[in-house]
Amino acid sequence: MLNKLYSMELPFAESYRIKMVEAIRKSTREEREKWIREAKYNLFNLRSDQVFIDLLTDSGTGAMSDHQWSEMMLGDESYAGATSYFKLKNAIEEITGFPFFLPTHQGRAAENVLFSVLVKEGNVVPGNSHFDTTKGHIEFRKATAVDCTIDEAFDTTLAHPFKGNVDPVKLEKVLEKSGDQIPFIIITLTCNSSGGQPVSMENLKMVRQFADRYKKMIIYDSARFAENAYFIKKREQGYQDKSIREICLEMFSYADAMTMSSKKDAIVNIGGFIGMRDADLFRQASVFNIMFEGYVTYGGMAGRDMNAVAQGLYEGTEFDYLETRISQVEYLGHRLMDFGIPVQRPIGGHAVFVDAKRFLPKVPKEEYVAQTLAVQLYIESGVRGVEIGTLLADRCPISRENRYPNLEMLRLAIPRRVYTNNHMDVVAVALKNVFDRRDEINHGFRIVREAPIMRHFTVELDVI
Ligand code: F0G
Repeated sequence: MLNKLYSMELPFAESYRIKMVEAIRKSTREEREKWIREAKYNLFNLRSDQVFIDLLTDSGTGAMSDHQWSEMMLGDESYAGATSYFKLKNAIEEITGFPFFLPTHQGRAAENVLFSVLVKEGNVVPGNSHFDTTKGHIEFRKATAVDCTIDEAFDTTLAHPFKGNVDPVKLEKVLEKSGDQIPFIIITLTCNSSGGQPVSMENLKMVRQFADRYKKMIIYDSARFAENAYFIKKREQGYQDKSIREICLEMFSYADAMTMSSKKDAIVNIGGFIGMRDADLFRQASVFNIMFEGYVTYGGMAGRDMNAVAQGLYEGTEFDYLETRISQVEYLGHRLMDFGIPVQRPIGGHAVFVDAKRFLPKVPKEEYVAQTLAVQLYIESGVRGVEIGTLLADRCPISRENRYPNLEMLRLAIPRRVYTNNHMDVVAVALKNVFDRRDEINHGFRIVREAPIMRHFTVELDVI
């Protein structure tokens, strides 16, 4: 009786405890105003010790586990045929089902190697809001990326469960129009550019059917594939009782190849790979891997790093880890929503995306609204987010005009296993303080200097 009376559901807690810590430092508003001016209002130009809570990216910023660090000590640094290569090969095959793989130093290197085989001038590559490096590697080869994401993704107020989905009507239109010019369809899991939004299994199957009908390959840009699998388990009918690993195997069964940035869901600081089903594609890609990355059994990675990726792939596909991770992102998102701050709904897997156009309606789109918000948040609190808006969207390669994307976002990306929910509270209150004085923010920035491609990394700005 007593037991029953006092029994409450236990609250949620992290699926790990902390063994090593790293000091971070607060700063004053005056210091931050000076630093950001010196950084030409580009947050990439800040030194990391000028940042208190760093939500610039979840890429390569995660905390490795004790098991991953142990694996580092077991790395085999042989030039050819290292045991570390086979350890990683086994992990990739077990989790994705791809029998062939090439290691690369990170995700964009995987894109570079694979696209060197597959993408030719004049090609068209349909997909769901291609990530900027993916688009960059397509456009660099004088090909075109066509976005076929569902329209719901561009309305931040709509709580659609799979905003990463491909629109079958848009996809078929491209397949019909540019059939001969399409080397493959690319699906980004989760879809970073639309807010870390997942793609449903049903949608992946649908794309497979189109690909079969039009005899096209499918490639997954898989950086956050495990987070995608978590959302399928949580949101899609028929998957509640399946394990994350079972869901991953099914997801990848609908693809012909994958590129991976291991810096995300494999929870390492550097690394990437290509997974493939076809021996011939593997042979062709090997040539470029040797040229750009390194010999086929290490391709840009140290043996110890391949060991850490292998271990990270297993840890990154554990349900308890994913629940901890995604609950933290949701925690921050819900705190912001409670303050009335407009965010992309539902909250994504790796980041909260703040709708900058709705947050700062007075700043003209020509003055880089999301960048303005990112700088305001930094000055307020030392929190560094990143612009996912007009600077990132870059200029049209032909007209050289600014491309104004549908969504103008401030992304707050949460590193894996790094910050506590107290840090999330600081971020939420800091953004609320900016929100409370949003009426005073009327102007943004103008560009002083920019690179011809991927300008957001190095752009220099000045206040208007
Ligand atoms: N694909 C997606 C979906 C990504 O988010 C990234 C990187 C890449 C490919 C490229 O991988 O960085 O290892 O070369 N995204 C990071 C980010 C940079 O902050 O979202 P990489």
